[in-house]
Amino acid sequence: MRTIEIFDTTLRDGEQSPGVNISTNEKVEIALQLEKLGVTRIEAGFAAASPGDQKSVAEVAKRVKNATIVSLARAVKDDMDKAYEALRNAENASLHVFLATSPIHREFKLNMSKEQVLQRAVEAVTYAKKYFKEVQFSAEDAARTEIDFLKQVVEAVIKAGATTVNIPDTVGYMTPIEYGNIFRELKQVPGADMIRLSCHCHDDLGMAVANSLAAIEGGATQVEGTINGIGERAGNAALEEVALALETRKDYYQATTKMNLKEIARTSQLVSRLTGMIVPGNKAIVGANAFAHESGIHQDGVLKNVTTYEIIRPESVGFKSNKLVLGKHSGRHAFKEKLIELGYHLEQEEVNAAFAAFKVLCDKKKEISDDDILALVDAKMERG
Ligand code: KIV
Ligand code: ZN
Repeated sequence: MRTIEIFDTTLRDGEQSPGVNISTNEKVEIALQLEKLGVTRIEAGFAAASPGDQKSVAEVAKRVKNATIVSLARAVKDDMDKAYEALRNAENASLHVFLATSPIHREFKLNMSKEQVLQRAVEAVTYAKKYFKEVQFSAEDAARTEIDFLKQVVEAVIKAGATTVNIPDTVGYMTPIEYGNIFRELKQVPGADMIRLSCHCHDDLGMAVANSLAAIEGGATQVEGTINGIGERAGNAALEEVALALETRKDYYQATTKMNLKEIARTSQLVSRLTGMIVPGNKAIVGANAFAHESGIHQDGVLKNVTTYEIIRPESVGFKSNKLVLGKHSGRHAFKEKLIELGYHLEQEEVNAAFAAFKVLCDKKKEISDDDILALVDAKMERG
């Protein structure tokens, strides 16, 4: 069983979600919770982006003791100097330096040749190594980079001392098979087995988690992502989904994380509250409906044995229990259980009459509350 390292970038790429701005104190609160969650690397921000970000990275670096604290930097000395300043008091620090490698970025954004990109990447890693033992290099837009050139860059930055090389799918363009194959290729690069090979996926086509899992199959040893999948545009790979996919399908992936899964619900709720980004009800693992059953057939199955319709126990990710939601698709079995939970022990005939009244009410209301059921049964009883 392989252990996959988790690199959380909620405080950096996650904060790049349009409209999100996390204060220094809030960043510290989230970072401390991420540490409880068992994340081993926390990207606290982009120190050169603003004085506020530099302060946040410094504060997180001061307060978090076990996880490695990371600051992002462009491949320019001033950015790396600012990151170094911010990370001065960290128990464990790492610099994350990035430079785009794809033809589109080389031509339209950087106006640099392949040779210039290669040289700048090596110079940046060499400079960063003066300050940091741990240096991560990211080839921005790696997924759209010519594979032979990407291999050249990866080999060169490893030689320059990079301890992690990250292969971002910056614009969420990959399919799982394509992305997994990039990692299979990069595994062949000299020195690749001595470093962390990291994946970083965006969700533009809704494949960030699938692509991250494909990268693990292809040989990635680190996964980057955010809590609740927040991030630039459509967001990043949701770390709670990656962790649960590995845990639930250990038999298939033969890989696990060191995450304390019971802290997932609390972490998700904290990030949602402090970023103001609402978690959709149908979001996997942490959505309000992730462990709710409405259909009568499903409710009957779950009441007989939860494994009929649940592949994850809600308690295992920190929720109290599953929910049987009463609505028009619900059946007699769940309705009767609800009556017992509310303190009624009715004869079967009384249950049948209350159930019929409940179904009529369901056509008028989307979700039926406990108070609705109390009112309905009491009215039935009064009428006899
Ligand atoms: O998506 C991306 O390419 C990034 C890099 C800065 C790692 O976020
Ligand atoms: Zn990103």
